[in-house]
Amino acid sequence: IEALDRHVPLSNRVQNRANPEVEPPLELDEFQNEPDTDNSIAANRAWGLRILERSATSQLGVETISDARIDDLDTLLTTVGATVHAAAGWQALPAESRARILHDAGDVLGVFRGRLIEVMASETGKTIAEGDVEVSEAIDFAHYYAARSLDLGAVADATFAPSRLIVVTPPWNFPVAIPAGSVLAALASGSAVIIKPAPQARRSAAVMIEALWEAGVPRDVLRLVDIEEGDLGRELVAHPAVDRVILTGGYETAQLFRSWRPDLPLLAETSGKNAIIVTPSGDLDLAVADIVKSAFGHAGQKCSAASLVVLVGSVAKSERFRRQLVDAVRTLRVGVPQNPLSQMGPIVEPAHGKLLRALTSLEPGQSWLVKPRELPTDDLIEAGRLWSPGVREGVAAGSEFHLTEYFGPVLGIMTAATLDEAIELQNASAYGLTAGIHSLDGDEVAHWLARVDAGNVYVNRGITGAVVQRQPFGGWKRSSVGAGTKAGGPNYLMTLGSWAPVAATP
Ligand code: ALA
Repeated sequence: IEALDRHVPLSNRVQNRANPEVEPPLELDEFQNEPDTDNSIAANRAWGLRILERSATSQLGVETISDARIDDLDTLLTTVGATVHAAAGWQALPAESRARILHDAGDVLGVFRGRLIEVMASETGKTIAEGDVEVSEAIDFAHYYAARSLDLGAVADATFAPSRLIVVTPPWNFPVAIPAGSVLAALASGSAVIIKPAPQARRSAAVMIEALWEAGVPRDVLRLVDIEEGDLGRELVAHPAVDRVILTGGYETAQLFRSWRPDLPLLAETSGKNAIIVTPSGDLDLAVADIVKSAFGHAGQKCSAASLVVLVGSVAKSERFRRQLVDAVRTLRVGVPQNPLSQMGPIVEPAHGKLLRALTSLEPGQSWLVKPRELPTDDLIEAGRLWSPGVREGVAAGSEFHLTEYFGPVLGIMTAATLDEAIELQNASAYGLTAGIHSLDGDEVAHWLARVDAGNVYVNRGITGAVVQRQPFGGWKRSSVGAGTKAGGPNYLMTLGSWAPVAATP
């Protein structure tokens, strides 16, 4: 098994379970975050290189996704009926047995780590480092939701009734962690699941689902369907047997789903337009590193990414800050994921529409601090996908760049005379997903925390990479449609079913 040549002890749990004297089985409710691969270990670096080599011609997931293809309504309706039917068997299992299977799913995802990194690099261009953290997050979701599923049942005056069928429609930008999180939460809540992967990331979702099946999640309880997003997509989402839909995607998609079925119980994590404020009291060196990571990690293709920085007072005039930011951005190594030195990979498809505009043109009053360039590609990726990162200055309040989500490697700089002015600029977006501040002044931070309108707020840290249990993830305003509780947090499972009042005992 591949995981054996990767020196991460937790991945050995699957093997150790056969021999409880080596490591007694974990108590299901003892949650620990999974460590990422330690690349200071030579064997792990060699392991990574082999994965990247394979990713150039990887065919992982092809068979599973082609088996999941559905092109006609009758087959889709049969699938829906069979999945609803299978929910009864899943719900009849004791809660402990379901939790054990889902916990095991986390361990098997660990065994699949190499395969998952390979398929993500091959299909979406994700670098090995970005793929690695994503697998850790998927494992965390499995272990965490398995543990939390044991809390469901009854509270003082109400009993939890699971859904029978939850449909999951994940995005392509976290092709493993987000589908895994949504599917595992739905299963942990006691529901059967149909997952329809994003077209750009269908093979990655398929390999993740293979891991869950291998762990013992029944195939009829967790069904993968590959359908076109048009008519069949509408038939699925609007089907009356669907109790809930978990969507991660654009705000417009959430609106579309609502238009298909106005009474649809929808949990949607949607778009973001996120900013980091830097005040004169901030550690500017740390701020530069966090800004670059938050803006250009996964080539900016995260709903949580920093798309704006707002420089307050003297920071706006600081030549040193500008120089450091420019150096840090210019020295980012951009390339295909198959090159292990690449820090930023390609975008998922050739730049077009508003992203192409953001990479190539400026609004009045703006100038390039670092101009993005389209880089030559080779036969591993198409032209138009590889861009060096860009930074524009002079972004004005209310401009297109101030308020639009682009989902790509381009950052805008705004300036503000005071912290209050900066907060106003940060809060101006219709979205409210992530937000950050770099300040070493406690009063300033408290002032900001009381006023910032975002679901996930970060102080003196990058604004991407929420961690299961420690930083549950979810937005405010238009970033969240019908959700209200956060993924990877203690209340998420409770929103996936309904609560029936129990009669008061005399
Ligand atoms: N949960 C992802 C992050 O925090 C989107 O970056």
